[in-house]
Amino acid sequence: MTTRDLAVVIVAAGKGERLGAAVPKAFFEIAGQTLLLHSASRIIGAKGLAQLVVAAPTDRLDLTRSQLEQLLDEHSMTDLIQLDVVAGGATRQDSISNAVRTMQPGIEVVLVHDAARAFAPTELFDRVADSVRYKGFGAVPVEPVVDTIKRVEGEQVLETVDRSDLRKAQTPQGFKASDLMDAYATAQADFTDDAALVQSRGHKVLAVEGDARALKITTAQDVDAAYSLLFGSADQRIGIGTDTHRFTADPSKPLYLGTVEWAGEPGLDGHSDGDAVSHAIVDAMLSALGLGDIGTNFGVDRPEFAGANGAVFLTSSLDMIQRAGWRIANVSVQIIGNRPKVAPHRIKVEQVLTQLLQAPVSIGATTTDGLGFLGNSEGVAAVATVLLKRAEDRLEK
Ligand code: CTP
Ligand code: MG
Repeated sequence: MTTRDLAVVIVAAGKGERLGAAVPKAFFEIAGQTLLLHSASRIIGAKGLAQLVVAAPTDRLDLTRSQLEQLLDEHSMTDLIQLDVVAGGATRQDSISNAVRTMQPGIEVVLVHDAARAFAPTELFDRVADSVRYKGFGAVPVEPVVDTIKRVEGEQVLETVDRSDLRKAQTPQGFKASDLMDAYATAQADFTDDAALVQSRGHKVLAVEGDARALKITTAQDVDAAYSLLFGSADQRIGIGTDTHRFTADPSKPLYLGTVEWAGEPGLDGHSDGDAVSHAIVDAMLSALGLGDIGTNFGVDRPEFAGANGAVFLTSSLDMIQRAGWRIANVSVQIIGNRPKVAPHRIKVEQVLTQLLQAPVSIGATTTDGLGFLGNSEGVAAVATVLLKRAEDRLEK
C-alpha cells in the first residue's frame, strides 16, 4: 500500500475571460458536469491522495466546498481525503500561494493542477507523483511540439526554431512539498508555471510523458476538442427510452400523454401523472448523452415531482442537453396499446411537444394484436428515440 503522502492543489479561481462563458471557467459545464468536478473526479482516484486543496473564486467558496464534499461522499472518501477550499488570488500564482499554506503535516508530494485541464486522467496524476516520489525532483508532464516554430519580429520571419528539444508543458506539475512551499514562500516575480518558480529556487525538475487528455480548456474551440475527446468526433448521438403505466381505478383521474390531457379517457397511475409518452422521451434524451435516466435524475423520492406534468421533466432534460452543448434533431415516439385511440389526439400532441422541445416530434401507434396487458387495455406503453446533434455554439445556454 502506498502511504498517504500526496496533496493535490486544484486552481479554479480564474475568470475564464477567453472562454467568455456566463460563469467562471471552472464552473462551466461540459457534458453536464463542471470542469472543476471533471478534474476532481479524476484526481480523487490518485494513489496516496490525503489532501485536496481547491483555490476557488471568493464568491463561490461555499458552493465549491459543498460540491466537492458531495463528490467525496459519493465515493466514500470523506474520511480518507482532507478537503480544503481557499480563496483564489488576483493571479494564478497568488491562488496557489494561498493553497500551499494549508499543507498538512505528512504530505511529501504536492501536485498543482489547473481545473481547466479537466480531463487529465488519473494515471497522469500517478505518473507525475511517482516521478517525484522515486526520483526526488520536480516533475512536469510534457508533450512534443509538432508544429514548425518560427521566430518573428513584426511581420518579418527571422528564423525557424529547432523544435527537437522543445516541449509543451501541462499540469499536474509535481514537487516535493518542502520545495514547493519554499518556492512560494519566497517568490519574488510572477512565473508562468510552477516548475519555473520552483526552478528559480535552484530545484531540479524532470520532464515526464504528458497526455493529450490534459488539454487546457481556454477558448470555445477547446470545448469542441473536449467533446470530441469525451464522445469521439461524432457530431450526433441517438437515445432510446420506453415507459409503461397502468390505468388507474380512479375514474376522476384525467389521462395525460405527451403533456396533453386526453379528455374522456381514463388516467394512468404513477408517482407523477403517468405520462408514458413524455417519460419515454425523457429517458431517450438522457440516454443519448449518457446522463442517466428519469429515475436517477427525477427520482420518486422527490416530493416536488409528485403528480408533475411531463413538461417539467422534458424542459429540464432539454436544458441538460443544451448545457452539454447539444440540441435535438428529432424525436420519434410509438404508443403501444389497445386504448386510448391515438389518431384523434396525434396532431395536437405532436404540435405541443414540437414546440416544447424545439425540434420535430412525431407520434405513431400500434396494438399488440390483443395480446398481453397492452392488448387487454390494462395499461399503455411508449417507445421513444431521440437524435441529438451538436449545437453550433457550445457557449449558448
Ligand atoms: N487561476 C486561478 N486564479 C487566478 C487565475 C487563474 O486559480 N487568479 C486558475 C484558473 O482557474 C485555471 C488555471 O489557473 O484553472 C489556468 O489559468 P487560465 O487557463 O488562464 O484560466 P483563467 O484565468 O480562468 O482564463 P482567462 O485567462 O481566459 O481569464
Ligand atoms: Mg488566465
